[in-house]
Amino acid sequence: MGRSTPFYACQSCGAQSRQFFGRCPGCGSWNSLVEQSNPAADGRRRRAAPAPPADGATPLPRRFEPIQAVGERPLRRLATGFPELDRVLGGGLVPGSLVLVGGDPGIGKSTLLLQSARALAEACSVLYVSAEESAQQVKLRWRRLGPEAGAEGTGDQAGLQLLAETDLELVLQELEALRPAVAIIDSIQALHDAELSSAPGSVSQVRDCAAALQRLAKRQDTALLLVGHVTKEGMLAGPKVLEHLVDAVLTFEGDRFASHRLLRAVKNRFGATHELGVFEMRDRGLAEVTNPSELFLGGDGPCAGTATIVACEGTRPLLVDLQALVSTTSYASPRRTATGIGINRLHQILAVLEKHLGLPLSRFDCYLAVAGGLDVEEPAADLGVAAAVVASYRDLTLPAGTVRGGGLGVGGQIRSVGQLELRLQEAARLGFTRAVVPRGSGLAPVAAALGLELLEAGGVAEALVAALGADPAAD
Ligand code: TYD
Ligand code: MG
Repeated sequence: MGRSTPFYACQSCGAQSRQFFGRCPGCGSWNSLVEQSNPAADGRRRRAAPAPPADGATPLPRRFEPIQAVGERPLRRLATGFPELDRVLGGGLVPGSLVLVGGDPGIGKSTLLLQSARALAEACSVLYVSAEESAQQVKLRWRRLGPEAGAEGTGDQAGLQLLAETDLELVLQELEALRPAVAIIDSIQALHDAELSSAPGSVSQVRDCAAALQRLAKRQDTALLLVGHVTKEGMLAGPKVLEHLVDAVLTFEGDRFASHRLLRAVKNRFGATHELGVFEMRDRGLAEVTNPSELFLGGDGPCAGTATIVACEGTRPLLVDLQALVSTTSYASPRRTATGIGINRLHQILAVLEKHLGLPLSRFDCYLAVAGGLDVEEPAADLGVAAAVVASYRDLTLPAGTVRGGGLGVGGQIRSVGQLELRLQEAARLGFTRAVVPRGSGLAPVAAALGLELLEAGGVAEALVAALGADPAAD
């Protein structure tokens, strides 16, 4: 693409085109294409290719080597002060790595990273670049987050340096001068490269700033944490551009009206994805929730239409309450809503119950919610959804102390689920005494050792008899 040819870049996904479209052909977002005038603006940082050696001169030394000869360094990890964050990162922050922390504005990204900066600064040098808030504002927050008000001056924070700056060039200069072990950029969308004409936060700015920071950070082995806001459409600005560039993408999410926050790894070159960290926003910053199962159990005591399941997020089992409300419909087609679970899964489970148990659910509205605002995507929740729906339909309170885990096939069969042993251990730890699981789990000895009564079921009717303690189809 020539320098003088105007082109358009999507502000959501970074796709480029010479033609203007009202809807991005790459990601489908509307009105996201913006004219860019200078596509090759980051060329100024590109080095010219070395000149070929003149005839007879010694050839340039080659830099490739056999893979066996490549030296291996043990992977050190820096502790962030939050074991939950360390676990999501794969065991701590890897020096020289580039991590993107995304989330809605106001969810607590700055709080999380400033608290981590505090802890990291006790062991290494940290530069916190605030591009959105003034140094005064960050200081106020830092005080609020301290273990004791006015605890500054104890000397333990000597390693934490603060820079309130939005100009990329100045940030790079300071990074080069300080060579910190960790640098936090809050946020990448607020930084701006004066050599690009586009506005801060646009795809070209975000890409250019992140790439320039990455080059410097890799050279001096600085671990970089970039804060990225999620755009209106629910995507990290320039995700296609940044996600491939960074080593890990963490998302920080939660219900603004509830105090808990969930941290997930959606990409991680140094650890597993789908790990989950749970935090709670308090008056003095974020606190870890070490026993999240308690958070996702409704806590309202026995109640018709509530079923407990053991969900698994990464390697972490979580007990979660599902709550269903089934009531006679006054609409031509019944209303179905699902919060925290895919609506199509709910439709399918209702169809299975209608077909295989003969329940006339098409004459009933059905509302389903996962307690605590968690998203449960795995099929292991199916049996719990079915139990909650039937319990509400029949106005039954499910027997206390029972959990269920199992997928539901369209033929009404109960499907096996992964990590069942881990799930049973968590259920037993929290005082549950019975578990309804797919037939052939082979876990009878494990359950016996845990003191759990194991009810194995092959079909939906059988599973529900076990889960409800009553015949679901009886009237
Ligand atoms: P913040 O970290 O500024 O969010 P982000 O950087 O993701 O935009 O968090 C902002 C919210 O957190 C704000 O609504 C106030 C609240 N908060 C607390 O409840 N307790 C605290 O100790 C702090 C620092 C913030
Ligand atoms: Mg912030």
